[in-house]
Amino acid sequence: MSKFTHIDDEGHPRMVDVGGKPRTDRAAEAEGWVLMSDKVRDAVAEGGNRKGDVLRIAELAGISAIKKTSDLIPLCHPLRLDHGAVICRLDPDKGVHITCKVKAGDVTGVEMEALTGVSVAALTVYDMCKAVDKGMEIQGVRLLKKSGGKSGKWTRDGFERGSDLPEITVAVLTVSDKGSQGEREDRSGPALCRTVEELGYRLQDRAIVPDEKDVIADRIVKWVDEEDVHIVLITGGTGLSSRDVTPEAVMSIADREVPGLGERMRSYSLNFTDRAVLSRGLAVTRGRSLILAMPGSVRGAIQCFQAVESVIGHGLETLRGWSGDCGN
Ligand code: MTE
Repeated sequence: MSKFTHIDDEGHPRMVDVGGKPRTDRAAEAEGWVLMSDKVRDAVAEGGNRKGDVLRIAELAGISAIKKTSDLIPLCHPLRLDHGAVICRLDPDKGVHITCKVKAGDVTGVEMEALTGVSVAALTVYDMCKAVDKGMEIQGVRLLKKSGGKSGKWTRDGFERGSDLPEITVAVLTVSDKGSQGEREDRSGPALCRTVEELGYRLQDRAIVPDEKDVIADRIVKWVDEEDVHIVLITGGTGLSSRDVTPEAVMSIADREVPGLGERMRSYSLNFTDRAVLSRGLAVTRGRSLILAMPGSVRGAIQCFQAVESVIGHGLETLRGWSGDCGN
């Protein structure tokens, strides 16, 4: 079998068939440099370049390029973009630093769009400045981070979320009568723990409790009130059986419900199974913590977490007062 998704078993190039893949929020960010001599840097800084304002024109070129990515890269899919921004800044020592951010609600990632935006902005800087000095070098064009889709979040090592922001802590609670008595292997709890760690959160604790309202509520309250865990992820007990009481337990200790997160978990899950409507999964806040109740199957828990993962970081930032700025 071919190791490359874009080449079939006989070596023919192909666009991957993305029909049937669910549309999810995708984002990517890339950066790059145009290294230049003092002479070019001074010309750019003074706006003295004969072809006008280099940085603004390069930014516009990058934005246009983002939109043309599928024309330029043969096996890329055309996407409906929600947002594209290219920022060019003059570094006094090195040259022009370029960053590009792209967002789309679509079936494939937007990494190529972000990398294309940076590359074309860099080429535009080169084009505009080559009369001053042809020795400039385009360097370090690279993806910094991406999120969304099946593979979830990826962040380049050393490029974590704002270093001034605290690490997000997570506790995972499995709610299952059989699991808590050792009669059934807990698979969704460990799967959530793995996902959480892969995404760069700090897994603070995990536990299994039976489907007992007070026991569930006590466990959450201990994590939130005594240990100040930022996010509690619960798997199981959201269905319709008489023992399913997780939503009731969560509501009994909640300050506020966050209906959008529950809606999002269900609507995303409907891409995979009609039975998603049978989950009474929900999200609430207690104090400055976020609590999410998700289905008990591995698929259900992971899909629901994937559905909201791109926004819970920002939700937590506003809940905790780490950032009140929704514009950025
Ligand atoms: N959501 C997703 N994404 N994937 C699933 O497999 N299973 C559904 C639903 N939500 C499922 C899902 C089923 S079959 C049930 S009964 C409910 O979640 C409730 O599950 P729970 O009682 O284990 O919490």
